[in-house]
Amino acid sequence: MDHFDRPKLANLLELERLAYVKRHETSRQLFERADHLFARVPMTWMNKWAGGFPLGFSQARGALITDLDGHELIDFALGDTGAMAGHSPAALVEAMQQRLGTHGGVTTMLTNEDAEWVAAEMTRRFGLSKWSFSLSATDANRWLLRLVRLATGRSKILVFSYSYHGSVDETFVVIDREGRSVSRPGNVAPAVDPTTTTRVVEFNDLEALERELAFGDVAAVLTEPAMTNIGIVLPQPGFLEGVRDACDRSGTLLILDETHTFSAGPGGCTQRYHLRPDAITIGKSLGGGVPCGAYGLSEDLAERVLVSVARGADIADVGGVGGTLAGNAMSLAAMRAVLGEVLTDEAFEAMEQLATSFASGVQATIDRYALPWSVNQLGARCEYRFANPAPRSGGESERSSDAQLEDFLHLYCVNRGVLITPFHNMALMCPATTIDHVEHHQSVFDEAVAVLTN
Ligand SMILES: Cc1ncc(COP(=O)(O)O)c(C=O)c1O
Repeated sequence: MDHFDRPKLANLLELERLAYVKRHETSRQLFERADHLFARVPMTWMNKWAGGFPLGFSQARGALITDLDGHELIDFALGDTGAMAGHSPAALVEAMQQRLGTHGGVTTMLTNEDAEWVAAEMTRRFGLSKWSFSLSATDANRWLLRLVRLATGRSKILVFSYSYHGSVDETFVVIDREGRSVSRPGNVAPAVDPTTTTRVVEFNDLEALERELAFGDVAAVLTEPAMTNIGIVLPQPGFLEGVRDACDRSGTLLILDETHTFSAGPGGCTQRYHLRPDAITIGKSLGGGVPCGAYGLSEDLAERVLVSVARGADIADVGGVGGTLAGNAMSLAAMRAVLGEVLTDEAFEAMEQLATSFASGVQATIDRYALPWSVNQLGARCEYRFANPAPRSGGESERSSDAQLEDFLHLYCVNRGVLITPFHNMALMCPATTIDHVEHHQSVFDEAVAVLTN
């Protein structure tokens, strides 16, 4: 049975939409005048915001954004993790001034000391010994998938249903409600049916994983250590260890995508839970929003790749691995500044404490109004879902989505100075987030629920 009075929810949503339009006149005009932008935005995803048009912004500093109509917003969306270091932290600004101004040189096809510094720091945090750089997590995943196929001589990969790893062709496979693997609904014109390149099972289902790996044709399992792109779906106790064992038994490699789960701590879930991947991919927040990405390889995998390279695979030119601007000097200077001075071990401790306060506030509201919802936390990241108990797989989580309810909550928050991600209900803390920010969200969220349920 539906927990809410739907006509009332529809009415409240309409009121919030009207308030949003009225409150954000300059942003609306910017959007409506953008005749030369495809879909009126610089990137089509920016139309995901619930108000019908995105906010335009004039400033972003730390955890705060000022929109074009002069409202200050507490930013818990943080560029969907790209700005987990906070907006324009001082160390990043200084590094960019040094690199671009004092020394000069954005992209050169040459190396410098920042590269080895960043790679060594990634090894300290994530354990893997060899690193290479890209400009996005998508590209890190794309290139690494080629390398694991090369190293194993196997053609397929395996992903978990409703995972997201960037716009990587092989990953758009889900299990539908009849239990079949199918191309993900909405997948834009794939070149080949992705069910021919990819096996898919539900997260937390070890039996299905073992069954699919037994075919012996999977080069690597590509997974986040906890799912974060269909709400947060945490691994059940023993699941990640079981994945590692199943990979070992079937000669399959294990890639952990830590792009979002970096929120779990300075070395992501890998360090926090002592995981043993063969490779890691990451991007987004590493450079504080300056484009960057990285993949790390175990010593053994790096050697296997090099053996194949010696037999003719081309990783230095037009073989399909790498990009002209990847590993450029600006991107490496940004990563050095962020890893060295912003997303430090100490910073993560404070961010996690705030996320714990955020999650307990949300839980208190859920309890007070006896809502059938749950809230999950992964270090500095929290997310509530319209299901209780919390979903254990991507499929379960997808079935708990409620677009109308999400839109209402998002707009209620934006209209009162709080941004949470337009993709589901994620809130992320950065080093500049304060307890006052968390408490402001809490009072707005609680009020939204009160309005809805009373
Ligand atoms: C887990 C994960 N991996 C990879 C990506 C791709 O990141 P980007 O779009 O910056 O390439 C995303 C994006 O949301 C992600 O969530």
